[in-house]
Amino acid sequence: MPSLNEIRAQFLEFFQSKGHTIVPSAPLVPQNDPTLLFVNAGMVPFKNYFTGAETPPYPRAASSQKAVRAGGKHNDLDNVGYTARHHTFFEMLGNFSFGDYFKEDAISHAWELLTKVWGLPPEKLLVTVYHTDDEAADLWKKIAGLPDEKIIRIATSDNFWSMGDTGPCGPCSEIFYDHGDHIPGGPPGSPDEDGDRFVEIWNLVFMQFEQFADGTRTPLPKPSIDTGAGLERVAAVLQGVHDNYDVDLFKDLIASIKAELGAPESETTPSHRVIADHLRSSSFLIADGVLPSNEGRGYVLRRIMRRAMRHAHLLGAETPLMHRVAPTLVKLMGDAYPDLRRAEASIVHTLKDEEERFRRTLGRGMALLEEATAGLKEGDVLSGETAFKLYDTYGFPLDLTQDAVRAMGLTVNLDEFDAAMTRQREMAREAWTGSGQVAAAAEWFAIRERLGQTDFVGYDNTEATAELLVLVKDGQEVLEAGAGETVQALFDRTPFYAESGGQAGDKGEVEWDGAGGKGRGRVLDVQKQAGDLHVHDVEILEGTLAPGARVHLIVDAQNRTTTRANHSATHLLHAALRNVLGPHVTQKGQMVDGERIRFDFSHGQPLTADEIDRIEAEVNAVVRQNLAAETKNMKPAEAIEAGAMALFGEKYGDTVRVLTLGKALTGEGDYSVELCGGTHVARTGDIALFKIVSEQGIAAGVRRIEALTGEAARRYLLEQAAVSKSLAEQFKAPVSEVLARVEGLQAQARKLEKELADAKRQLAMGGGGGAAAGPEDIGGVKVLARVMDGVGGKDLRPIAEEFKKQLPDGVIALVGVAEGKAAVTVALTGSATAKFNAGELAKAAVLAMGGQGAGGRPDFAQGGAPDGSKAQEGLDAIKAALAG
Ligand code: ALA
Repeated sequence: MPSLNEIRAQFLEFFQSKGHTIVPSAPLVPQNDPTLLFVNAGMVPFKNYFTGAETPPYPRAASSQKAVRAGGKHNDLDNVGYTARHHTFFEMLGNFSFGDYFKEDAISHAWELLTKVWGLPPEKLLVTVYHTDDEAADLWKKIAGLPDEKIIRIATSDNFWSMGDTGPCGPCSEIFYDHGDHIPGGPPGSPDEDGDRFVEIWNLVFMQFEQFADGTRTPLPKPSIDTGAGLERVAAVLQGVHDNYDVDLFKDLIASIKAELGAPESETTPSHRVIADHLRSSSFLIADGVLPSNEGRGYVLRRIMRRAMRHAHLLGAETPLMHRVAPTLVKLMGDAYPDLRRAEASIVHTLKDEEERFRRTLGRGMALLEEATAGLKEGDVLSGETAFKLYDTYGFPLDLTQDAVRAMGLTVNLDEFDAAMTRQREMAREAWTGSGQVAAAAEWFAIRERLGQTDFVGYDNTEATAELLVLVKDGQEVLEAGAGETVQALFDRTPFYAESGGQAGDKGEVEWDGAGGKGRGRVLDVQKQAGDLHVHDVEILEGTLAPGARVHLIVDAQNRTTTRANHSATHLLHAALRNVLGPHVTQKGQMVDGERIRFDFSHGQPLTADEIDRIEAEVNAVVRQNLAAETKNMKPAEAIEAGAMALFGEKYGDTVRVLTLGKALTGEGDYSVELCGGTHVARTGDIALFKIVSEQGIAAGVRRIEALTGEAARRYLLEQAAVSKSLAEQFKAPVSEVLARVEGLQAQARKLEKELADAKRQLAMGGGGGAAAGPEDIGGVKVLARVMDGVGGKDLRPIAEEFKKQLPDGVIALVGVAEGKAAVTVALTGSATAKFNAGELAKAAVLAMGGQGAGGRPDFAQGGAPDGSKAQEGLDAIKAALAG
């Protein structure tokens, strides 16, 4: 029975033998196609070849394409777990002709592969054609000899395939497999076609038109072929199972999930299937640079991940589960998709992070949901208010709630949900007087619900007047705080930026002069709570502060200015990295504050000096353009479609700020366009100077750059110059000669080291215990056994080699002692190689000296032991072993 991996290979081999070029899968995020969220079919990467926009480099191609259907025209998310063959991620096998062959060859290739290569019985197969497509029907009769009743004409869009609302399209012919009459369901076109008995396994699309947004349709330059066979479905048929989740790959994944849950024998439930499926889509999306977030593709990923995480919770997982199963997936699919392997570390990391984040609210959200559904019965509707609360307060995407109540036969009132969403946006803030309750991190959600969000006025101001709403000390709400106390303060509005999107919170001061008297405090940091509350850590320096006070908030303008420069420079760095290293570079994290820039990104190897130089040169060139930074408010989806880069970890609202910096250095367009809620320079010249100070790997496939701007960069360069200057003074040479001097010293040091090693070896061999003393005879075998003081493991090997020349037939056993530790080397020559095993002899010595073992070849082995004082005992152990 062929495995899924074998079936994929067989498909590609077959089409290669038919003159097709095998093309590797394109990434899941469509390249240059803003109309699609994800690649959802095998033909997507070839779209321009069909329409004639690009000339294909080959007339025919075949691929196994990664596909995600979880949003947009083709969306299967809600069904996954409950059916035998829905997936959010799947592999689509396809063969393509770009104006080369057409219907006849497409049909005959498919028939040959299915019935000849894979040996499926023709009587188990039936096909559909578009109702007017006589040509296709005739060809099926001629090529496959199918009777009329097995060539079903379909008039609906089921047999007219299109990529999306726009793009290539055409009539199609689908091949179905009959899983047998023990499974309910009728053939396509019949009233009970939705049953599971007849399963579509391959769709042959006869591409003939291009569909435009205005509804018009024009013929393609040449009729072409696009086919798609879901690998998981084909594998189910070829492995004789009905359910895709019984295919080898899924069985292995589900077994790994059960093992991680500590219940290897448990029965498979929809939750297991959901986790297996969603783990695949999540991992492949992360490998293609998508990270969970609150907008666009990132939000689809987050929804998928959280849905799986809820199911892990249902199965009783007490700690994050997904990241523990990910390595199994990488093992199963990494050969076919090497990107998955390269991204393993960031997959594991991202899954773990998200699951830890979500678990903080998951339990409480589930409890709320249970309470809200307790009195409901099948067919009832859950209030949209509850669904909204779950969304807003506990991070439950709407479809997660829908999925959760679906199992109970309930639906969600979507009108109410939408209304609550709208109301929340419009909700005017009401004054709220505290009740003295505990305000731990989780309670900020309750405060947020009653007070609404903080009005952030800091994009245009560094000072503002505001009212103090809430004061919290040690997690407890308080009604006043005095000098010397450090409290958390929430104001109705603030110019203070709260840490988010990798930008640190502002620092500054707060002053007040009211009924309660004068006072002032220092704002040490500002963090976001409950999504959009700006919570200020305030150290009170003078006076007393109480809710209701009118305060004057003053951001440390100098720190804000350098933070702005650092944040804008980070955007330029991001763009420069992509220009210099390639578009695979995606941001994996960042931290900017008033001091420095830290930027993490995906890239497989260390940067060369030349690359760093080019990156710095680009960034500084854009700085010198000194163009005004432009900020626009847009809808997230529109911004991303317009090509703006989105940051991860940023919480985007309905509208997002889109920042444009500089003009492209070559060609047309802008230099950097990113979604970003941070604070930025007015003109690029405000950055003044950009300097990278370090570059290093921090995880597999993830690098970190640290950099400085403006005055800090200048000071850094000054320090570097000072180092060169003092070196020059030490060498009494001009700065330009220092490098040559250092290289000279290094060469000299290497020469001396070598001479010293040679001398040590000579000493060891010729000295008291040297070969001059001659080998001893143990049971008729010549043995050179020596303890060598001051000789480490590394030096034993060349000594043993030397001794081998002197003892062409015998055993060389050396125990070196250096820094208190022992190292053993055993070498066999001549007839001794047949009588003994060097590894066993070395091991005997190592064990006698308190070590673990030895390794090497049968005629040469080495080992080490912690206790060098037992060297003689080690040697004796070898002798004893030789004596038998
Ligand atoms: N593009 C066609 C499909 O996805 C083959 O079904």
